[in-house]
Amino acid sequence: MTNFLEKARQLDKQDPLKDLKKEFYLKEDSYYFDGNSLGLLSKKAESAVFEILQMWKDNQIDGWTEGEYPWFTLSEKLSEQMAQVVGAKKKEVIITGQTTTNLHQLIRSLRPFKDGRTKVIVNELEFPSDIYAISAILEEQGLDPLQHLISVKSKDGYTIATEDIISELKDDVALLLMPSVLYRSGQLLDMKKLTEAAHKKGILAVFDCSHSVGCIPHDFHNCGIDAAFWCTYKYLNGGPGAVAGLFIHEKHLPIKAALAGWFGSDKSKQFDMAHNFTPADEAGSLQSGTPHILSIAPLIGSLSITLEAGIQEIREKSLALTDFLMEIAKELLDFNFEYTTPSLANERGGHISLSHPEAARICKALKAEGVISDFRFQIAFYHSTCTCSIIYFFFRCV
Ligand SMILES: Cc1ncc(COP(=O)(O)O)c(C=O)c1O
Repeated sequence: MTNFLEKARQLDKQDPLKDLKKEFYLKEDSYYFDGNSLGLLSKKAESAVFEILQMWKDNQIDGWTEGEYPWFTLSEKLSEQMAQVVGAKKKEVIITGQTTTNLHQLIRSLRPFKDGRTKVIVNELEFPSDIYAISAILEEQGLDPLQHLISVKSKDGYTIATEDIISELKDDVALLLMPSVLYRSGQLLDMKKLTEAAHKKGILAVFDCSHSVGCIPHDFHNCGIDAAFWCTYKYLNGGPGAVAGLFIHEKHLPIKAALAGWFGSDKSKQFDMAHNFTPADEAGSLQSGTPHILSIAPLIGSLSITLEAGIQEIREKSLALTDFLMEIAKELLDFNFEYTTPSLANERGGHISLSHPEAARICKALKAEGVISDFRFQIAFYHSTCTCSIIYFFFRCV
């Protein structure tokens, strides 16, 4: 039998990111595998929140315009860093809203339903909030989701075949709405191939990148996707309910925001308080109201860690961790576990998912042993950029 403990120690020694572990708050005797749901708190994120609170205390209303991070332009400032993380131009990205409200804002603002195009292609394994949102948008257009929302079926219950998506891209389709990584199985979709196929048919391609931003290098601009939205509380370690991100390709700029509001103004005009709106000519125009400064604050710290580590390096570590996890699972686990994550590196994101009929009870038992995994109708273990003691869990669970 492979000596996995020894192998883990060797891998840890060679790990170029090992020093970052001390940046994060880990609990003793606890093993965190749930970075896909909620990334852990880092010391840098924590001190950024305290700094913003201090500014509020000291500067009061002047916090909007003074200090190291004037709140008035904090979203724009941090969006420059976010643009680097997703491979976009600065003007194409803004940190704003929530994942779900950004879906609403982007799709409504892109106004895809025209020239007889009324259908939206989604998949049956999609995160429910996206389905609720796009259904509401269709209904508002007078389009019944039962007829106009086409849900691509999964053949195995875990993954969606690219060809099955492409075969639904017909002339009456307005929009392709897909995740970059499926939230349960961790399957990574080929965004470039899907976008090219959609564009050939005049269809807009929009992606939910909640499960990839922060753990997979993206090249949104060159990939040519029309838009993307993502949360920042998973792989970006922004904290519960941290402010989300959106990307709109420069070919759609300037864009008229469907959910318009004064924070979408050209910054130099916002305080004119005029009733004729002068929107920003960048993605920033897709902001509506006052940004949630306290929920952006942790990103000051956590984005700097992501950039310091390097997104390519994070991906390499993530793949090394998940490869190792699968190697151990395959050798040691034989109690009716099914592997539901594609094994090829270019077909999976940052987490590994195992399916088992008793998954709920297994997760509960693991938690009692200090192993924090995620349960979503199947047992799923997630990598976090700051978790590396995966070996111990497997020794304890078998
Ligand atoms: C893939 C995906 N999309 C959308 C959402 C909804 O995000 P929010 O609650 O931030 O709007 C989530 C939440 O976990 C998610 O995982």
